[in-house]
Amino acid sequence: MTYQPSPERYKEMEYRRCGKSGLKLSALSLGLWHNFGHVNDFENSRNLIKTAFDHGITHFDLANNYGPPPGSAEENFGKILQQDFKGYRDEMVISTKAGYTMWDGPYGDWGSKKYLVSSLDQSLKRMNLDYADIFYHHRPDPETPIEETMTALDLIVRQGKALYVGLSNYRPAEAAEAIAILKQLGTPCLIHQPKYSMFERWPEDGLLDLLEQEGIGCIPFSPLAQGLLTDKYLHGIPSDSRVATSGVFLNEEHLTAEKLAKVSALNALAEQRGQKLAHMALSWLLRDKRITSVLIGSSKPEQILDSIKALENTTFSEGELETINTILR
Ligand SMILES: NC(=O)c1ccc[n+]([C@@H]2O[C@H](COP(=O)([O-])OP(=O)(O)OC[C@H]3O[C@@H](n4cnc5c(N)ncnc54)[C@H](OP(=O)(O)O)[C@@H]3O)[C@@H](O)[C@H]2O)c1
Repeated sequence: MTYQPSPERYKEMEYRRCGKSGLKLSALSLGLWHNFGHVNDFENSRNLIKTAFDHGITHFDLANNYGPPPGSAEENFGKILQQDFKGYRDEMVISTKAGYTMWDGPYGDWGSKKYLVSSLDQSLKRMNLDYADIFYHHRPDPETPIEETMTALDLIVRQGKALYVGLSNYRPAEAAEAIAILKQLGTPCLIHQPKYSMFERWPEDGLLDLLEQEGIGCIPFSPLAQGLLTDKYLHGIPSDSRVATSGVFLNEEHLTAEKLAKVSALNALAEQRGQKLAHMALSWLLRDKRITSVLIGSSKPEQILDSIKALENTTFSEGELETINTILR
């Protein structure tokens, strides 16, 4: 049966302006890092995208290397667009990136113009798209002159292959330099994608201030610390969890007694607030107006519906914030 998106899809979602740009993003965005590769169940991947879109999530975040194997998340996403989303391209913001190892040899990694331009061409082919909405440099390259990398981003926009550009994993000083060059080139940086959660707070040391000052959006990735900031690991390791099924980027070694004690204390506070820990972890990020959207991952459609509930309460008292800081110290 042909998929018909829910006519109610724009009612429950909040849309936030990305910095001082003209673009608004859904307060939750869906990332395709896990659960969209050739190793995954395609029908589940398809249901994840449909569920997200049906509930107002308009922004989908990819990268050249997402899979496994690398490239397969873009391929599967392209297939899903073709099968289910014909006619809806203009209601979607599709992001991709290059910066990590993608192919063999000296041109398939880091930040040269050679790599970025050819990688985006490949991504567009895999997704069967004419252009990406946002193209990111995925991580800073210590060896390529930053001018070259930023000139490549500017070129890509001028060629019409991306509408906007973003930076990911750039620390404040590197970000400031890149932002200044992009501004000078006439292709302003739209958004920055840092790792940011209750367990990873480096963006609070200068990055968020810089982005606010420059009118640039911020989209934290791994806002649930890959699932650690939920109640799922409090009583063992569920067989369908990322620790049990993937184990590459999150494994048993991350589940230390110290970490689990913090998760347990945070969980108790969430309960006092009438939330689940997953909701509180997302709403804690969204309470800050400098955050445009939180970039979630999901292995099951129900998790997307659950995570959207974070929007029901994004207000924290001073006492609650202090308790969170004390737990995390
Ligand atoms: N720029 C970068 O360098 C970079 C790096 C990493 C990620 N990212 C982006 O960020 C996106 C999100 O990263 P992430 O997947 O690590 O995010 P995350 O939201 O911190 O973790 C997602 C995982 O948590 C579990 N989960 C999600 N919602 C839940 C809920 N409501 N209740 C219980 N468990 C829940 C699921 O894992 P299980 O069910 O499998 O346990 C899910 O796959 C990626 O897809 C990617 O687009 C970017």
